[in-house]
Amino acid sequence: MTTIAPAIGQSLDRVDGRAKVTGSARYFAETPIPGISYAVLVGSRIANGRITGIDAGDARAEEGVLAVLTHENLPSIAEQPPLIPSLGGTAAPGQTFFPMQDDVVHYAGQHIAIVVADTLERAQYAASLIRVSYEERPPLVTLDQGRDQAYVPDRVFGGWLPGRVSRGDIETGLAAADVRVDTTFSYAANNHNPLEPSGTTAEWDGDEVLLHDATQGVNATQITVARQLGIPLSKIRVIGHYVGGSFGSKAMIHDHAALAALAAREVGRPVKLVLTREQMFTSVGHREEQEQRITLGATRDGRLTGIRHHKLSPTSHFDDWAEPSLGVSPEIYGCPNFDGVYRIFRANTMTPTFMRAPGEASGMFALECAMDELAGELGMDPIELRERNLSAVSPSSGRPWSSSGLLECYRRGAERFGWEGRDPRPGRRREGNWLIGTGMASAGYPVVLPPNPQRARARMYADGTAVVQAATPDFGTGVATVMTQVAADALGMSLDRCRFENGDTDLPNIAAAVGSAGSGMISAAVHSAATALRNQLIAQATGDSNSPLYGADPVDVVVQDGVMTAGTARESYAELLQRDVQPDAEATGTWSPPGGDPGYGMMTFGAQFAEVAVDAELGLVRVRRLTGAFAPGRVLNPKLARSQLMGGMLWGLGQALLEANHMHPRTGRWAGASLGEYLVAVNADAPDVDVELVEVEDSVVNPLGVKGVGEIGQVGVAAAIANAVHHATGRRVRKLPIAIEDLL
Ligand code: MOS
Repeated sequence: MTTIAPAIGQSLDRVDGRAKVTGSARYFAETPIPGISYAVLVGSRIANGRITGIDAGDARAEEGVLAVLTHENLPSIAEQPPLIPSLGGTAAPGQTFFPMQDDVVHYAGQHIAIVVADTLERAQYAASLIRVSYEERPPLVTLDQGRDQAYVPDRVFGGWLPGRVSRGDIETGLAAADVRVDTTFSYAANNHNPLEPSGTTAEWDGDEVLLHDATQGVNATQITVARQLGIPLSKIRVIGHYVGGSFGSKAMIHDHAALAALAAREVGRPVKLVLTREQMFTSVGHREEQEQRITLGATRDGRLTGIRHHKLSPTSHFDDWAEPSLGVSPEIYGCPNFDGVYRIFRANTMTPTFMRAPGEASGMFALECAMDELAGELGMDPIELRERNLSAVSPSSGRPWSSSGLLECYRRGAERFGWEGRDPRPGRRREGNWLIGTGMASAGYPVVLPPNPQRARARMYADGTAVVQAATPDFGTGVATVMTQVAADALGMSLDRCRFENGDTDLPNIAAAVGSAGSGMISAAVHSAATALRNQLIAQATGDSNSPLYGADPVDVVVQDGVMTAGTARESYAELLQRDVQPDAEATGTWSPPGGDPGYGMMTFGAQFAEVAVDAELGLVRVRRLTGAFAPGRVLNPKLARSQLMGGMLWGLGQALLEANHMHPRTGRWAGASLGEYLVAVNADAPDVDVELVEVEDSVVNPLGVKGVGEIGQVGVAAAIANAVHHATGRRVRKLPIAIEDLL
């Protein structure tokens, strides 16, 4: 039995908060490296064709230029590993294509040259002098250009998921329905815009290389670059303590990391390579443009008889990628008949990638808007419709949920939001020029387990302070803070005597923090290491004839504030180590996630509520209130969990109303590639955001029962907002983002 101990569950401030706001927290590009040089990447202007010539003479002649590398002179990479998402502790390239190996251009922005100089300005200027000639072919980039060529792949999402997901018989299910809704949704592409752009510094010492990298997993960078360079893992160390946000752009290891290492080896000096804001649109993947069609069938009393969910999207020429939009729709409602298909077509883009709640958010937008339409058809309250279709088991496997809490999320969310008594008729509430509406949606996100063991190390010093270590970076989630809490409880110590060190491949392996799995898997490893150290110290004391605890049964020893007690006998960790003239003691811990079939369905659930005001003449949508109720298992730190969930909800607001990019059908380039043109939610867009935490116990997912808060906060927000827009105006907007022109 795990008891909830004092540090876990506290709303501890971030342990690195001061370092971050005072600027002493060091991000990868800020690491001072003597003799550093600067690399600039040059991207292809065309989206499809071949390079017929690169004239880099003027660039090479510029003062301070150390190298210009192109497909003509860049050393070949040893191999490009297969595309497997980085959660696995395997190589995780962003795509199976590596640039500058030949003269073929597959997409606009594809890296075709790298310029290294002694200053950044000289590198940038020299890059501008490179003249490239191309043999250009017309690009194929948009959904409308490629829809006729779509096919259903065997596997999608880097090979993780099948191209078709089905159960029962969809035709029978839809035929049995009294009411059907059949509707299609379209989505603009999205790009990642974390505060800190991606990039890597590389520094060689003989045949060893040290990388400082902005990454969600230092081990993922290490394994990927080692294989690309063909060097042993022991010869590559990757450091990444602080990372300035990611949203999935740093989950896969894109080619700039290996390019920085190759360039540094070529020039014989350390190299710093930081992507420009514009390159964040072309070099780290994106969420693909897509279309989703949902068909729902239900009986008069609101029971779903069939769900059909088809998705169409472009992928690159090398990988069958589609974000898993069918990740939640087969699982959230009890419905015997489901048919889901990914259709993709080859386009002149780089391989799309993870983008926060990758697929779950877009898939649930379609399903939850369709559910709202169905509720309207049935004349049923939207929450009532969802409650009627709640499932006590995972509908796809028939296994019980490891934990749920969805019903409580509906109830408590509705109560906080003030849903009761809502007039369901659209267009009835008006305040001056503003039409007011409310909407809701369900949220679900799978509990993702890493397929490999996760490790951590704990060390107790003779002064009674402890350090716990694991390789994971902290990309803004607060992991360093919550792991300090987990370690303090497991060791039986006060928080101020424990420190968490992270972000270095010299520390024990942790898989990339992807799929909201970070807090669950890292807390499991940290808990295991700290518990092992505590047991080791207790065993040392009870076996030491000089200790007051000598002869006590280890199971009777309790530890509080660093003091071991058995009956009236007491000795602190510090006293024990000092007496034994031991500067420190150390233990490692490993958590092996349940392999194979865990025998349970594992999902995190929530419910989203939105109130919008729509200007009746201008079509302007303002979100007035958001309420989200979530059941993420054990909450390690309510303040940080709320912050994560609130951030996810605002990200959902951006998805609903702001974030969009389009590829130009003739040039194959992004229409907008800067923060001036790509809109993200800012403070002025942010309404009151109310987050309710519904704690549920879960003894299956990991030792502390942590299901994660990284992505569930976003799922369903856009649907709740779209449903509220319909309630306000009577207009169904079946696209993302919802723009002013859609409401005129
Ligand atoms: Mo997260 S989008 O699963 O890196």
